[in-house]
Amino acid sequence: MRSGTLLALAATAGPVLADQHYFFAGAFSGSTIFGFEFDDVASTLTLANNITTNASSGSKWIALDAAKKNLYVASSGYFQSYAITDDLGLTYSSNVSLTSDCNNGNFISVLTTEPYTVFGTPYGGGCPTLAISVDESGILQSTFANASYSSAGGVHGTSLSPDMRFLYSADDMGDAVWVHSYDNETGTIEEIQYLAAADDMDPRHLAAHPNGKWVYVVYEAGNSVAVYSRSACTGKLTFTNTTYSLLPSGKRHPSNPLNYRDRTWADLGWTIGFTNSSSYWADEVLFSVPSNNSSAASPKYLLAATRSRTVGVPGYVSAFALDADTGAITEQLFLTPTTNSGGSANAVSPAAFAEDYFAITDSGSNFVEVWKIEGADATAVAHVDLATGPANVVWYS
Ligand SMILES: *[C@@H]1O[C@H](CO)[C@@H](O)[C@H](O)[C@H]1NC(C)=O
Ligand SMILES: *[C@@H]1O[C@H](CO)[C@@H](O)[C@H](O)[C@H]1NC(C)=O
Ligand SMILES: *[C@@H]1O[C@H](CO)[C@@H](O)[C@H](O)[C@H]1NC(C)=O
Ligand SMILES: *[C@@H]1O[C@H](CO)[C@@H](O)[C@H](O)[C@H]1NC(C)=O
Ligand SMILES: *[C@@H]1O[C@H](CO)[C@@H](O)[C@H](O)[C@H]1NC(C)=O
Ligand SMILES: *[C@@H]1O[C@H](CO)[C@@H](O)[C@H](O)[C@H]1NC(C)=O
Ligand SMILES: *[C@@H]1O[C@H](CO)[C@@H](O)[C@H](O)[C@H]1NC(C)=O
Ligand SMILES: *[C@@H]1O[C@H](CO)[C@@H](O)[C@H](O)[C@H]1NC(C)=O
Ligand SMILES: *[C@@H]1O[C@H](CO)[C@@H](O)[C@H](O)[C@H]1NC(C)=O
Repeated sequence: MRSGTLLALAATAGPVLADQHYFFAGAFSGSTIFGFEFDDVASTLTLANNITTNASSGSKWIALDAAKKNLYVASSGYFQSYAITDDLGLTYSSNVSLTSDCNNGNFISVLTTEPYTVFGTPYGGGCPTLAISVDESGILQSTFANASYSSAGGVHGTSLSPDMRFLYSADDMGDAVWVHSYDNETGTIEEIQYLAAADDMDPRHLAAHPNGKWVYVVYEAGNSVAVYSRSACTGKLTFTNTTYSLLPSGKRHPSNPLNYRDRTWADLGWTIGFTNSSSYWADEVLFSVPSNNSSAASPKYLLAATRSRTVGVPGYVSAFALDADTGAITEQLFLTPTTNSGGSANAVSPAAFAEDYFAITDSGSNFVEVWKIEGADATAVAHVDLATGPANVVWYS
């Protein structure tokens, strides 16, 4: 089943533009994790591997370690650790089992420097984020500390500061953002800030800019991206009162009178702003991945997406241009309908090999797509249907 191409690809894996790239996609149910090959010259996407895992009730979130030797899986009852084999399969290594009151394993962030701690978050019930140690091979060992929230909390996503000293948590059920410090010498975690969001915004995921100056937060119910500035010194955040809609809003952004809304409304047939925000739920916000170290602190794009609650009615994907020096949003480049609702997913995943590519998962209609950004728009360039609903994607190469 494995092709020679894949073995060659594994040997040359790295952030370079090549023909063949590989990614894993988890699924909301079943025990399969999918392996995909994407050819950026032919724009072909191939389901290369159906990998049977021990996550029998789905892999709601998957994450790679910095060395790309392990894949971590959030599942019901467990955070699991798999070794990535030479032929890009997965071999079960270990699990950290969850308590019955906090068993909905749902999100994972990974420290990319020593001691390579893994932060796993079970969703709902005020459950804390668990700081999990790894051994010298990156295999999950045990929980040694928690980032705690209030009992009304339900943290859906986390992000680490570039210096790896602060953990940011998007509290969807508690309508807030939390900041915790993490001391990698003592292994202690302390709450340092709680920021209530405006009523019914529901922060879902967030992304700390690699230059340390910003945390961008996607508001699930608000269907928007909110801009928080960050003190590199204290790690604390300040909400700037700026949000960008992830739905056709019928509004012109005051700081940018010539932005996409003026230019493309007619093209897309939008004449009014959507007033049915509750028919949508925004899901993801992530930076594109710079392809070399000299640009590592200045990703070109911030990508975000929202899902429609009705299969057959599209969600939206958006990209924001970021200032190369400050990391501030300069322009919302596009707000483009996705090919279907997204289901519970519409998770965007920026490619590891070039900033203009990203993957999208749709669990309402069961497919994975690769999209390409060209100028001020993006289009799906490849599509593969699946037997089950994919959750998120991680690019291996
Ligand atoms: C993966 O499984 C699907 C059925 O769900 C099948 O059509 C496909 O051929 C399989 N692919 C590989 C590479 O095993
Ligand atoms: C994981 O799955 C493999 C293959 O299905 C099985 O042999 C192994 O016992 C399982 N391990 C655990 C810890 O469940
Ligand atoms: C989790 O790990 C324990 C041992 O630590 C093992 O007995 C159990 O089978 C594992 N379960 C899964 C689903 O991997
Ligand atoms: C803590 O992080 C710093 C900076 O990344 C690193 O130099 C140090 O080795 C880490 N400490 C431990 C105990 O891993
Ligand atoms: C972390 O939180 C879990 C769930 O509340 C709890 O069972 C565990 O004892 C805590 N662990 C530590 C090290 O604080
Ligand atoms: C945001 O708005 C609030 C309420 O109007 C105000 O108190 C606060 O200073 C503003 N924050 C910033 C960063 O402008
Ligand atoms: C929301 O409203 C817009 C404009 O009327 C409509 O085109 C769209 O289909 C609606 N979305 C859903 C999910 O019902
Ligand atoms: C580094 O990457 C950036 C953006 O991805 C690109 O513009 C730049 O030319 C690259 N520099 C080198 C030295 O490859
Ligand atoms: C890029 O950065 C990584 C991690 O900081 C480092 O290991 C690597 O050597 C750097 N590569 C180059 C070409 O400088």
